[in-house]
Amino acid sequence: MARILITSALPYINGIKHLGNLVGSMLPADVYARFQRQRGREVLFICATDEHGTPAELAARAAGQNVRDYCREQHDIQASAADAFGLSFDYFGRSSNAPNHKLTQHFAKVLEDKGLIEERTDKQVYSVEDQRFLPDRYVEGTCPHCGYEKARGDQCDNCGRLLDPTDLKNPYSSISGSHNVELRETAHLYLLQAQMQDRIGAWVEKNDNWPTLTKSIARKWLKEGLRDRSITRDLKWGVPVAYEGTPRPGFENKVFYVWFDAPIAYIAATEEWAIANDENWERWWRTDKGADDVKYVQVMGKDNVAFHTVSFPATILGSDEPWKTVDALKALNWLTWYGGKFSTSENRGIFMDQALDILPPDYWRWHLMANAPESDDASFTLEHFASVVNKDLADVLGNFVNRITRFCNARFGSATPGEGAYGEPENALIQELDGRISAYAQYLEEMEFRKAFNELRAIWVAGNEYLQIAAPWTTIKEDKARAAASVRCGLNLILLFATLSRPVIPFTADKMFAIFGIDPDDGAKWPTGAADALSALKGDEPFTLPEVLFAKIEDDQIDEWRGRFGAA
Ligand code: MF3
Ligand code: ZN
Repeated sequence: MARILITSALPYINGIKHLGNLVGSMLPADVYARFQRQRGREVLFICATDEHGTPAELAARAAGQNVRDYCREQHDIQASAADAFGLSFDYFGRSSNAPNHKLTQHFAKVLEDKGLIEERTDKQVYSVEDQRFLPDRYVEGTCPHCGYEKARGDQCDNCGRLLDPTDLKNPYSSISGSHNVELRETAHLYLLQAQMQDRIGAWVEKNDNWPTLTKSIARKWLKEGLRDRSITRDLKWGVPVAYEGTPRPGFENKVFYVWFDAPIAYIAATEEWAIANDENWERWWRTDKGADDVKYVQVMGKDNVAFHTVSFPATILGSDEPWKTVDALKALNWLTWYGGKFSTSENRGIFMDQALDILPPDYWRWHLMANAPESDDASFTLEHFASVVNKDLADVLGNFVNRITRFCNARFGSATPGEGAYGEPENALIQELDGRISAYAQYLEEMEFRKAFNELRAIWVAGNEYLQIAAPWTTIKEDKARAAASVRCGLNLILLFATLSRPVIPFTADKMFAIFGIDPDDGAKWPTGAADALSALKGDEPFTLPEVLFAKIEDDQIDEWRGRFGAA
């Protein structure tokens, strides 16, 4: 059985992530990792903070901290939020840690030795006041096409045209506002991607099980023709441009571009995991060291696809070294906040820490995954969220668990009733469940999350419908053994639901196992079939009455949250 390596796109360090970021990569990757672990696969799930680049430097400055302290603090904040959300990373590393420095420099050196890196001199905007070169989007000025006065150096937000910073009239630094800017020459390293066009094209085509969205993005980039790409920047914070401890001459004050080192951190964070756990990272990443039987799965937002299907492959394929490359790639669209952008500065949207201030993680996890932005962008609204939670979680799943445990306790006592045999209604249920469980597993395997959770919801509904039909509260009057069999079946359904639901609502699943005092790590093995699953509890197993699993969301709560989180 293949081992599975799973990476989620690495969240930027500057600030805690919002619900859109969460469902864009970390959460779906977690659901998939949890599912595969329950299936008995050997899983390694890696994530890290993406810490370099100008935004991190500026965010640190705005916070009045040096960038090193800022990143350490933000990493810890993101790590605790991830943990509180139940994101089950085997390791949550940092792109600024030593293994990534070493590995990034290693790749650059190898690529340079292969003749795939070239030094070129460009003219770039320098801000005298800020004492720094300005990345394109930090240069602003008047658009030459439409006259908009706050056009950015990469694009005009008014007319949408792509720009070069030198196109702008009256340019100024958006960092300080200073107009004292000039063009200065600066040397950079270029990765000669144009030479790798055919190799990367062939590799992309060889990956015939990528989803359509992924493949079409990769093909579009290839069709436009790969362009050589500068992989260094004039910054202080980042991986120094040095080989074996010696700065590359002329690059003493430069670092590698954040998008060059960030994906390499997938590997480096695995190395951090190995160091911390006395493990071997090469068997996950080097095909000459056993990684041949690894299935490597990447999960990311759609804006990341080109970097993962073209740029990062250019780095690893270009090295000619036996690195593991991606096998399955899941890309998600955007989750919007009432159709618009989430924004920290404008206080629009819910961020991970705020979400957990108001409700437990499973409420969010369920809603986000069952309505994941897969085929298209999806809009988050508090109204929709509340209706999904109230229906699916409170009325369907929560109510089922509550009803059957309370009925059993009232009429049979606080242990599973053993009398009576399964009959017609149970067999019909088992047949329906078998079909649905295998569809559900298939969708999870394919990372078709909306379809998967439609199926899971239908499984919960089937349990409720079964109870309606079996109606132990009626049959108990004439045939106590029949009622006992239905109640036993209902209690077994709680365990089956817990097992099947655990990838998406792990905290609730564990509460459901706790009703019967079962250790979830033993109880949650993926079921072989519904008949077996529904005969796990045979009679006389004691249980305790659970608390209400899900509280309904009330209208006045929605009103309060609308104001607090800037609902449109
Ligand atoms: N930080 C990037 C983003 O949030 C993702 C980086 S993915 C990596 O868009 F592979 F480069 F690390
Ligand atoms: Zn314009």
